[in-house]
Order: sequence, then C-alpha cells, then structure tokens
Amino acid sequence: MKKIGIIGSGTVAQTLGAGFSKHGYQVMLGTRDNSKLAEWKKGAGANVIIGSFSETAKFGDIIVLAVKGTVAKDALNLIGKENLVTKTIIDATNPIADAAPIHGVLKFFTNLDKSLMEELQELVPNANFVKAFNSVGSAFMVNPSFESKPTMFICGNNENAKKEVSVIIDQFGWEAADFGMAESARAIEPLCMLWCIPGLSKNQWTHAFKLLKL
Ligand SMILES: NC(=O)c1ccc[n+]([C@@H]2O[C@H](COP(=O)([O-])OP(=O)(O)OC[C@H]3O[C@@H](n4cnc5c(N)ncnc54)[C@H](OP(=O)(O)O)[C@@H]3O)[C@@H](O)[C@H]2O)c1
Repeated sequence: MKKIGIIGSGTVAQTLGAGFSKHGYQVMLGTRDNSKLAEWKKGAGANVIIGSFSETAKFGDIIVLAVKGTVAKDALNLIGKENLVTKTIIDATNPIADAAPIHGVLKFFTNLDKSLMEELQELVPNANFVKAFNSVGSAFMVNPSFESKPTMFICGNNENAKKEVSVIIDQFGWEAADFGMAESARAIEPLCMLWCIPGLSKNQWTHAFKLLKL
C-alpha cells in the first residue's frame, strides 16, 4: 500500500492522518515543530510517524498539502521541490486571506483568473497536483454519515494522479467528480467560501455538496 506524507499539523492534517491510518496506510505528518503533534500522536496509532516537511515529502508516495493558504508557496520551498518530483499532491489548501469575512463570505487573496493550485503547480511543474478535500470542514473529510454520498470536486492536469486520488476519496466515503484540469481550481477553491457561509453567518457547519446528474 502507498505511503502518505501529510504536510501540516492542523486540523486537516490530523483528520486526514487519522483517516489514512484507519484505512491501513503508513502515514507521516510533517511540521516545523514536532511538539504541536505530541498529544495527537499518542492516540494516532502505530501507523503514524512525525517528521519535518522535507522528511515527510521524501517518505510519501502520495503527498497531502494541508498548510495555511497564505504560506503554501513557502511550504513548498521548505519541503524542497526535488522531493516532490512525479508525486501526486493532494492539495487541500484554500487561498483565504488574512482578513475578516463580510456577511459570512471569506476573502481570498487570489482572483477568478488564477487559482492557488495553478500557482503551486507552476512552482513545481513536475509534480502532479490534484485539488481535493478543500470544500468541506475537516469533521466530514473521512467517512461522513450524510443521508447520501457527498461529492468531492477534484481537478488537476495528470489523469493518473486524479485516478489515484479518486480511489482514496472512494475509501473515505465520498464520490469524486473530476472537473478537469488545474484551471478548474478557479471554480473549486471558491466552493470553500460557499461551504463556509452558513457556518460563519448562522453557525451551521454540518453540510456537504452533492452533484445531481440525469
Ligand atoms: N480547517 C478545515 O476544516 C479546512 C477544510 C478544508 C480545507 N482547509 C484548508 O486546509 C489547509 C489547512 O487548514 P488547517 O485548518 O488544518 O490548518 P491551518 O491553521 O490553516 O494551517 C496550519 C499549518 O500551516 C503551516 N504553516 C503556518 N505558517 C507557516 C509558514 N510560515 N511556513 C510554513 N508552514 C506554515 C503550519 O506548519 P507547522 O506545523 O510547521 O506550524 C501548519 O501545519 C488550509 O489551507 C485551509 O484553508 C481547511
């Protein structure tokens, strides 16, 4: 089974780390400060180890990028681009600006003509970024119990990478909807804004998107 390197120590990294471990994957979480994960590690099981950003990228056959959007490019530099060559990178980041939401609508530091994932893909052209897990709260990322299977919208330039990520999405109890190439992240990243509106304006956080088809 493929090894998973998760760059991050926040709620997304911890949730996906536990999820991959539950599904039998070997997992490493990468942080600049191991002490942040000391408590979490105690309950995370034997499949999970902690390392630096670069150790984690070297360890993973598949990488998950789960850092704050404003520092995602810095994180790639800390990881070392050479450690990402040909790897599938599940990009869970969102380009949320350090500014207050307006009437529940988050501010982005990107615009609709260029997504964060396209910028990251340009920075590491020989890695295979796949946008996923960005449009739902961490509480529902792994095997959620909605009345029907929620849809995870994904995109990226490499077909094999998207297939690889779709298998994981299926294991995690979601249906993957492949919405095209990296440019489609211009539409998928703002789904996080839409998802957060009921939460930020009415404190309702228990929903997910579903694509209906004929
Ligand atoms: N929270 C959610 O429910 C949710 C849902 C969907 C998508 N997302 C997206 O997923 C990403 C992670 O979210 P999160 O809430 O788990 O955590 P977060 O608080 O947004 O980010 C924490 C991570 O960012 C890293 N970081 C902070 N400053 C850094 C810097 N200057 N250089 C390098 N790395 C730095 C931290 O690294 P260290 O460990 O080294 O401190 C930590 O691992 C975000 O882009 C977020 O928008 C979040």
